[in-house]
Amino acid sequence: LIHSRIREECEVLKMTDKQIKEIMCRLHNDLKKGLSRADHDKATVKCWITYIQDLPNGKERGKFLALDLGGTNFRVLIINLGENHFDMQSKIYAIPKHIMTGTGIALFDHIAECLANFMKEHGVYEERLALGFTFSFPLKQLGLTKGVLQRWTKGFSCSGVVGEDVVQGLKDAIARRGDVFIDVMGILNDATGALMSCAHKNRNCRISVIIGTGSNACYVEKTANCELFDGEPDKEELLINTEWGAFGDDGSLDFVRTEFDREVDVTSINPGKQIQEKMISGMYLGELVRLALVKFTRMGLLFGGQGSDLLFEGGSFYTKYVSEIESDKPGDFTSCMEVLEELGLSHASDADMAAVRYVCECVSRRAAHLVSAGIATLLNKMNEPRVTVGIDGSVYRFHPHFHTLMCEKIAQLVRPGLQFDLMLSEDGSGRGAALVAAVACREAEQGS
Ligand code: BG6
Ligand code: GLC
Repeated sequence: LIHSRIREECEVLKMTDKQIKEIMCRLHNDLKKGLSRADHDKATVKCWITYIQDLPNGKERGKFLALDLGGTNFRVLIINLGENHFDMQSKIYAIPKHIMTGTGIALFDHIAECLANFMKEHGVYEERLALGFTFSFPLKQLGLTKGVLQRWTKGFSCSGVVGEDVVQGLKDAIARRGDVFIDVMGILNDATGALMSCAHKNRNCRISVIIGTGSNACYVEKTANCELFDGEPDKEELLINTEWGAFGDDGSLDFVRTEFDREVDVTSINPGKQIQEKMISGMYLGELVRLALVKFTRMGLLFGGQGSDLLFEGGSFYTKYVSEIESDKPGDFTSCMEVLEELGLSHASDADMAAVRYVCECVSRRAAHLVSAGIATLLNKMNEPRVTVGIDGSVYRFHPHFHTLMCEKIAQLVRPGLQFDLMLSEDGSGRGAALVAAVACREAEQGS
């Protein structure tokens, strides 16, 4: 059914095993550079030290607030950690586009306002509470409560924040209001939160991966390998936030990138940055598919050469469409037809729909293979007999085949004898932030 020219054109979206092995080799070198003192400044994959050395021991208790900024939704949460229960309430607040790209002060004032409103609604406005802050952007941490933003990613570009301590930005905004009393106990990344949260339930969980709006991984590394670590030397291990979304920023993925990847990059808010992320994550997958469909339409291979205004409009093909289209049973095009109708392409034939699905499959398979290459690189590097990988993010959660594609590919790529499991991380950014705050409070009490 699918036009042979379309299949040929899509060949560029396939990575051979040889290419995948080469990618693993390059990523492994980049991870080592990120960890090393001599090469860190030049490294693209920064491997930031998180200053979280203690995974939860299951004995954490109390009431905590959390903020979750940087994924699909901005949320404020309140979490009660009890002996046999874990109780969590949360609310999503919008971050309007003008705030995402406005000033840092306006962003933090907005966050503080949402926090204060949330505390009122939950009857804790008068209480003094500890807070964990999930901030899903690259941070150079100088301690558990001090993190300097390195660059914005994923559509944010607030001025005056890069190079500054984000915790201070939040504290200042809270102080400007003067009405609520919060102890910010820790700042962390969503990938770190996912690892904390999964490790709380599963002791084998030593890697976490986010395949959501952006892409990232966090893992447990031996302190001896972290040359930049200057904290307590008695800890044998610490968590590393790899920020692997920046892999390829020095051109190391160019040998597998396509014209569609280059186009997504140049039209993005951060050209030349987050190259791996732009081949994998939810902010970009739909757009990659759209660009391929536009090309094939212009070549006269799709929709009788007749596109639509929406098809030609950047950003109109959402990544959720890719998941929906691939959820159709083979030969059934119900969701595909709905999506194409929404895009003003109701004149699509069955052959067109089969081709659209094929393009989606090629783009998402390549993404799954790239993530698999990353996970296998970490598994091989850690070389532990059995590791559970906690995974979060909208792409992994909602794409019907991502999990299976990854299991198959990772199994081919890991060193023989190494076993792994992929586990969905449940709300790492909320639970993980609360756990970080709880572990920090526990340690502060022990220390005093
Ligand atoms: C979620 C978190 O569970 O996973 C988010 O609450 C986080 O804040 C996320 O960043 C990653 O997924 P997405 O798809 O929302 O970016
Ligand atoms: C981007 C951010 C990173 C985050 C990831 C997933 O890559 O830079 O910090 O973990 O997106 O949300």
